[in-house]
Amino acid sequence: MILGVNIDHVATLRQARRGIEPDPLMAAPLAILGGADGITVHLREDRRHINDRDLRLLREIVPVELNLEMAATKEMLNIASKIKPDMVTLVPEKRQELTTEGGLDVKAQKKKIKDAIKKLQDAGIPVSLFINPETEDIEISKTIGADMIEIHTGMYANAKGKKQEKELQRIYKSASYAKDIGLLVNAGHGLNYFNVQKIAAIRGLRGLYIGHSIISRAVLVGLERAVREMKELIAYSEAVEE
Ligand code: PXP
Repeated sequence: MILGVNIDHVATLRQARRGIEPDPLMAAPLAILGGADGITVHLREDRRHINDRDLRLLREIVPVELNLEMAATKEMLNIASKIKPDMVTLVPEKRQELTTEGGLDVKAQKKKIKDAIKKLQDAGIPVSLFINPETEDIEISKTIGADMIEIHTGMYANAKGKKQEKELQRIYKSASYAKDIGLLVNAGHGLNYFNVQKIAAIRGLRGLYIGHSIISRAVLVGLERAVREMKELIAYSEAVEE
């Protein structure tokens, strides 16, 4: 099972100061050294974190799967056709949301998504659809030509107790059905160090796409070293003569 690491949040931190650090271009090779099988970025319409420069340069330096998450808009389709990521995951996008809130409404947007899939596939890019664990959405995804789906695990991640168990069953059934009708199946959203194993145990899953929990942990596990390095610089600085 592959792990695609979403590095959007590194760019979010950079954008807090509109500066140059931390640079997602430095984060990608470190994630790969740690074992990431893929790097994911979401180029949003408002460019709130990842920008066009990041995507262009990541395409040059990422030797593993580069997965571009994007909305099925004309602008994004043109960008993807030009940059040619290794795959595209189509996601719904709302300006005000903090993160992708739900799966694609493939039923209501069938034609739009079908046309987007065709355009991307004509450019040689495999397409995954980020959808809720619903049988009908899986069937539609297959009918409109998707290569893969990514099952939205957010409801499972946010639920507790019996409700979480129910969500898990929904994901199990959906993954199994999608596989049976010939789709490659991924999962992601809201997965963390506490809830990942029950999803990773699903047989036949192609991959997991995880971002926020990994970048959050990186901030904490890296903090002690970062402070120590600053202390060393201060301790060994030369005294300035008055
Ligand atoms: N998969 C998709 C389609 C997403 O939109 C996101 C969030 O950008 C993720 C996975 C990763 O979610 P998280 O950051 O909660 O791990």
